Amino acid sequence: MRTAIYPGSFDPPTNGHVDIIRRSSKLFDHVIVAVAENPAKVYSFSVEDRMDMLREIVKPYNNISVDHFTGLLVEYADRIGAVTIIRGLRALSDFEYEFELALMNRHLNSKVDTIFMMTDEHYSFVRSSLVKEVARLGGDISDKVPPVVEKYLRNLYKIEK
Ligand code: PNS
Repeated sequence: MRTAIYPGSFDPPTNGHVDIIRRSSKLFDHVIVAVAENPAKVYSFSVEDRMDMLREIVKPYNNISVDHFTGLLVEYADRIGAVTIIRGLRALSDFEYEFELALMNRHLNSKVDTIFMMTDEHYSFVRSSLVKEVARLGGDISDKVPPVVEKYLRNLYKIEK
């Protein structure tokens, strides 16, 4: 059984994340979308809210589940028996950071490998922080995030519709 982890902040999940989830569901027997909980980081959404949004998003895929983790990603991978980490690449600008992350993770645990998947070019500019800014200022984000996330964003920024 090939189990992979798709980790991230998912604060909130975007259609770019959904695209990677859809692609990875075809490549692995089981994919765990793992929501990071870093006490040193301030999130817009609680870990419960981020997991709720993702649970709704992964409903169509019977080989994808949602979990959360604290601490080192490679230790979490060890605990659940996964040897593959999936990360999405939107543009070249993502590469340097992702390269460092992958190499650091390999130094920490050489059994765990990272694979990169290219996000559909329609979402190359879609980033959680940008989506939040547009939503906060009343812009249309309906084609950038799934409906469940739009609902959570409207609630976060008290936008009537
Ligand atoms: O969606 P993000 O914010 O780009 O995800 C980054 C994430 C959560 C995958 C990364 O920060 C991470 O793995 N954090 C867990 C702590 C850890 O293992 N840090 C060392 C990796 S270099």
